[in-house]
Amino acid sequence: MKLTVDAPVLKPDAVPFEVERIREDFPILLQKVHGKPLVYLDNAASTQKPQVVIDTMTRFYSEYYSNVHRGVHQLSQLSTEAHEAVREKVRQLLNARSQREIIFVRGCTEGINLVAQTYGRKHLQAGDEILISAMEHHSNIVPWQMICEEKKAHLRVAPINDAGEIIVEEYEKLLSERTRLVALVHLSNALGTINPVRELIELAHRRGIPVLVDGAQAIPHLSVDVQELDCDFYVFSAHKLFGPTGVGVLYGKEALLDAMPPYQGGGDMIRSVSFEKTDYNVLPYKFEAGTPDIAGAIGLGAAIDYVQEIGLETISAYEHDLLTYATEAIQQVPGVRLVGTAAQKASVLSFVLAGVHPHDIGTILDRDGIAIRVGHHCAQPVMKRFGVPATARASFAFYNTRAEVDTLVAGLHKVQEMFN
Ligand code: ALA
Repeated sequence: MKLTVDAPVLKPDAVPFEVERIREDFPILLQKVHGKPLVYLDNAASTQKPQVVIDTMTRFYSEYYSNVHRGVHQLSQLSTEAHEAVREKVRQLLNARSQREIIFVRGCTEGINLVAQTYGRKHLQAGDEILISAMEHHSNIVPWQMICEEKKAHLRVAPINDAGEIIVEEYEKLLSERTRLVALVHLSNALGTINPVRELIELAHRRGIPVLVDGAQAIPHLSVDVQELDCDFYVFSAHKLFGPTGVGVLYGKEALLDAMPPYQGGGDMIRSVSFEKTDYNVLPYKFEAGTPDIAGAIGLGAAIDYVQEIGLETISAYEHDLLTYATEAIQQVPGVRLVGTAAQKASVLSFVLAGVHPHDIGTILDRDGIAIRVGHHCAQPVMKRFGVPATARASFAFYNTRAEVDTLVAGLHKVQEMFN
């Protein structure tokens, strides 16, 4: 089946940035793997880092490293200022109303667990429901299963169609007076589907149900405005936005965060402690126990600056063109079947090749320097829905090129010939 995508397509001669120049910012892209130029198409797993992110973190460690929020000395003031300046950058990136709504966490997974263990624990009772979709990553399934099990609540799952799109009418039917929260992925890591989250949020809000959006994959590809979406929680990880591992963000509406009990106890999340009673700190610190990943946050700040300099709308348009090109090219390989053919997609091409196990595809492509991910992509229920144990997945970033797509397709022809 040929996929048609109706969003505006950027003409190659209108590309508003020079991809070859952009590539020079990423030292790892100059690497050779097995003697071949690296073709890095595993961006949904993690993105590469521009030199400016690496340098910014090195400068922090070599010039003004110190703990934050605790020192009157010069270094601590500098590191605190740098750390808190990133909170403002994140606020602007998401268009949140206030810095109090921006919580630094370890990553998307921790953000979801935080909401499950605080909001979920406070509001769920026996017989209540949490609604997710059938295309969720394990990180947006298991935390809800855990709290549902503890509270004797039920996890409900909105089904998806054969293209990998949420069936909105079915989703709506599952919103009940027992639903306490909806948790949905913005852009599916296994299928590439961009969900109509604004519409899905509105349907939930009509019934007074708050919505958490898993933005792990969306944040490097789409311009996200939490006020426009009107989501109640939004989570993402820095390492998928060209920043470091180990840090991420939970956005939450202030009134909700304020009413939630803390997640972890420890230093920094308190106002006063005695053996009789502890008073918790104000937002956002109430949710940030212990020394944070200061270097990680500072690296995230550099990554946000870098991405914003290019512009997320420019990035989306370039990647849309690249995905359209790749979608057409890959379907020329005999035996390829795409898994995930939604009308609205970004960045991800999941596929199977008749008669070849995805692990063999990945291993053979690797010998040609092509890095893709193969397996269940931490989304085993999605694999089950499409009747496959695994897929091969090429996932793109703005530093990928049509020439790299051509190398991938040539590699797949080679795999096909070897096995047939
Ligand atoms: N969630 C990441 C992926 O899709 C790791 O590969």
